[in-house]
Amino acid sequence: MNKKNNKNSDILLRMENIDKNFPGVKALDGVLLTVRKGTVHALMGENGAGKSTLMKCLFGVYAKDGGKIFLEGREVSFRNSKEALENGVAMVHQELNQALKRSVMENMWLGRFPKVARFLPFTSEKKMYDETKKLLSELHINVDPRTVMAKMPVSQRQMVEIAKAVSYDSKIIVFDEPTSSLTETEVEHLFRIINMLRDRGCGIIYISHKMEEILRISDEVTVMRDGKHIATKSAKEITMDEIIRLMVGRELTNRYPEKAHEIGEEWLKVEGLTAEYTRLNDVSFTARKGEILGVAGLDGSGRTELLENIFGISARRSGKITLDGKEARNRNARESIRNGFALLTEERRATGIFGILDILENTSISSLDRYRTGLFLSKKKMRESTKWSIEAMRIKTPNQETKIRSLSGGNQQKVILGRWLLTEPEVLLLDEPTRGIDVGAKYEIYQLILDLAAKGKTVIMVSSEMPELLGVCDRIIVMSGGRKAGEVDAKTATQEEIMTLAAKYA
Ligand SMILES: Nc1ncnc2c1ncn2[C@@H]1O[C@H](COP(=O)(O)OP(=O)(O)OP(=O)(O)O)[C@@H](O)[C@H]1O
Ligand SMILES: [Mg+2]
Repeated sequence: MNKKNNKNSDILLRMENIDKNFPGVKALDGVLLTVRKGTVHALMGENGAGKSTLMKCLFGVYAKDGGKIFLEGREVSFRNSKEALENGVAMVHQELNQALKRSVMENMWLGRFPKVARFLPFTSEKKMYDETKKLLSELHINVDPRTVMAKMPVSQRQMVEIAKAVSYDSKIIVFDEPTSSLTETEVEHLFRIINMLRDRGCGIIYISHKMEEILRISDEVTVMRDGKHIATKSAKEITMDEIIRLMVGRELTNRYPEKAHEIGEEWLKVEGLTAEYTRLNDVSFTARKGEILGVAGLDGSGRTELLENIFGISARRSGKITLDGKEARNRNARESIRNGFALLTEERRATGIFGILDILENTSISSLDRYRTGLFLSKKKMRESTKWSIEAMRIKTPNQETKIRSLSGGNQQKVILGRWLLTEPEVLLLDEPTRGIDVGAKYEIYQLILDLAAKGKTVIMVSSEMPELLGVCDRIIVMSGGRKAGEVDAKTATQEEIMTLAAKYA
C-alpha cells in the first residue's frame, strides 16, 4: 500500500513558496507541499495555521500572492474552482456549502448538468438520476438521488459531498476535516473510499485534528505553524507526541488539566425524560453543583437528543426537570435560558454562527442582558467580555471587529463556545465542545470547563472521544438505544466498561 520511491515522476503536486495575505494577517508565508501519486498526505497544524487557506489557493478560491504550483510537472494557477475541477483537482470543504432545497443529484451536477445530447441545450433528468445512482452505489452510499438535501442529516450530506468530489475523476482530492460531522461507521466508510482512491493512484490531501485518524490513514505528514511549513515526515517514522510538539511549538506534557474543583450538593434532577418523536426513553439522572457529568454512547444512542430535550428544543412527551428544588419546565430555548441553562449545539456551523456579524457581536448576542445599562447596551462591557473570550481561548484574529466568517474553522468554534460560557449558566450543556479544535486549544477549553465547575456550575458534556470524557469528567452516564444504560465513576472506569454499557440496548 505505501510503496513509495522518491522518483520525481511520482510527484503529482508541488506547491512552492506559497504566500497569502489577508488584511492584518499573513496567512501563508513561503509554504511548501509535495504530494506523491498513490499516497495520503496529512496536513496538520493548530487552528488558524493556514491549512484551509493553502488548499483554497490550490483550488482557485483564493488567488495566491506569491509562489508556484505544479501539477504533474506543469505549472498551473486556477482562477476558480471550476478550472481546478476541470484539471483534476477536487476539494471537500470544511464548511459544507450545498443547495439545501435542491436534491442530491442536482447538488451532484450543479454547474455541469449532463446534456441530453452534446448539441441540445436541455439537461437530462434521467441521465442525471442514472449517473448519480451509479456513482452512489459504486461507493456504497445508501441515498436516493431524488432526496432533498435539507431532509438529510449533516453526516449524509457530507457523504454526498465526498461522492461529488470523487465523481470528477480527479488526480488530487483534498479533504478538509471531512470527519468532523461523520458517524463512526461513516468514518470507516470514508477510509475505504480513500484507500480505493489511493490504489487508483490519486494523491489525497487530508486535514484533520483527530490524531488517531492521521496516523491510521496517512503516508506522509506535513505540519504547518503560523502560516509556515514546519516539517514533512513519513507517517511511519513520526509519533503522535512529535506531531503535537511540531504543531504547538512546545512540549505538551499533559493532555488534560489537573482537577481541583469540589463537588457540592445535588442540584439538577432529571426524571423519566421521554421524547415525543425520537428514541429518547425514560432517562433519569442527577447532577451536583460543580460536577462535570459526561454523556457517552455510540452514534444514534440519544446523546444529543438528551441535551436537546433538556433544553426544550425537541418535543418532550413526559418527564420532569428540577433545578435547585424548583421545576424547570424548559419548553423552549428562551425559557431554558431564563431558567439558567445553556446549550452549545453539535451543528454549530449550521445553527450557531452569524457569518456577517463580527466577533464582538457573535460573542455578546446571547448575554445582551448583562450589557444593558438603562436603555443602552454598554459597548465597553461587551468589549471586555469579548477580550476575555479571545484571550481565554487564544482565538486567532486581528481584532474584535473581524467578521466571524473570515476566521479559521476552529477559531469560529471557539467564538461560539465563548458566547455560551459568558452567559454564565447554572447548567451548561455541551455537545462535542472540542470538535474541530486543535490539541493545544483543547487543553485551554478543558481548563475553562473545570473553572466553571469550580465556580459551582454544573456541566453536562457529550463527547465521542472517550479519553476526553475520562480525562475531564467526574462521572459519566452511558446512553444506548435512547435509554440510559448505566453510570460510571470517571476516576475508576475503563473504556471497555463504557463500551460494554454502550452496546447494552444498541
Ligand atoms: N477570508 C479571509 N479573510 C481574512 N482572513 C482570513 C480569511 N480566511 C482565513 N483567514 C485567516 O488566515 C489564517 C489561516 O486560516 P485557515 O482557515 O487557513 O486556518 P486553518 O489552518 O484551516 O485552521 P482550522 O484548523 O481552524 O480550520 C487565520 O488567521 C484566518 O483568520
Ligand atoms: Mg481550516
